[in-house]
Amino acid sequence: MDQSLESRFRGRFKDPDFTNLELAAIDWLDGFYQLEHLLSTRAWTVRLVPTASAELKFAALVHDAERFFPGGPSGTPDTTFDDPDYLFAHSIRSADIVEDWLRKQPSVPEAFIRRVRQLVLRHEIGGNTEEDILQAADSLSWFDTLDWLAYEWASSGKLSHGKVCDKLDWMLTRIRPTVAMENALDIYREAIASLEGRNDVAQMDLAERRRIAGSKRILLGL
Ligand SMILES: [Fe+2]
Repeated sequence: MDQSLESRFRGRFKDPDFTNLELAAIDWLDGFYQLEHLLSTRAWTVRLVPTASAELKFAALVHDAERFFPGGPSGTPDTTFDDPDYLFAHSIRSADIVEDWLRKQPSVPEAFIRRVRQLVLRHEIGGNTEEDILQAADSLSWFDTLDWLAYEWASSGKLSHGKVCDKLDWMLTRIRPTVAMENALDIYREAIASLEGRNDVAQMDLAERRRIAGSKRILLGL
């Protein structure tokens, strides 16, 4: 086990503002290799909009939940990453799984469930201001926390370098809020550097990096 790698991520997403419902959702998704991406999407949402609604923060935290549960569309579509057939299947399955989970939690208001569902359904395409923020936070978080995955896809030959570049470019160009774009360029460039093996991601134990990305204990510093 690479203790030094783990120590770099320990407690990165510790946050005293998590609600009990959010903590329950983090428990639910513990072990999902995109847990770090989800925590980061919530953090970016709050950074972009400090007054973000409880629904928006929660949707950010669970928007990709379906990828944790076998049976959905692949995480790497056969066509292109911006293929609506793929994006809509992914978004609808996440919304269904999240709604089902929320309905099993005690005393969650119906209006909260309905709004979270709408946000999850729109997280890939945006919509109104709040929905555009969620989509943008997803992109920022992708550059920030899944750069190792871009490198893994390309270096393992799972996807071509060009296809991974297309994914990163699409995640950048779909960002609409100016405040988000202002934050995007530097971390987009860093994600491209990771993809091309020009920073320390190329030296990481990627299995260990993946384990860290799914560990509630590490990410919340428990
Ligand atoms: Fe996402």
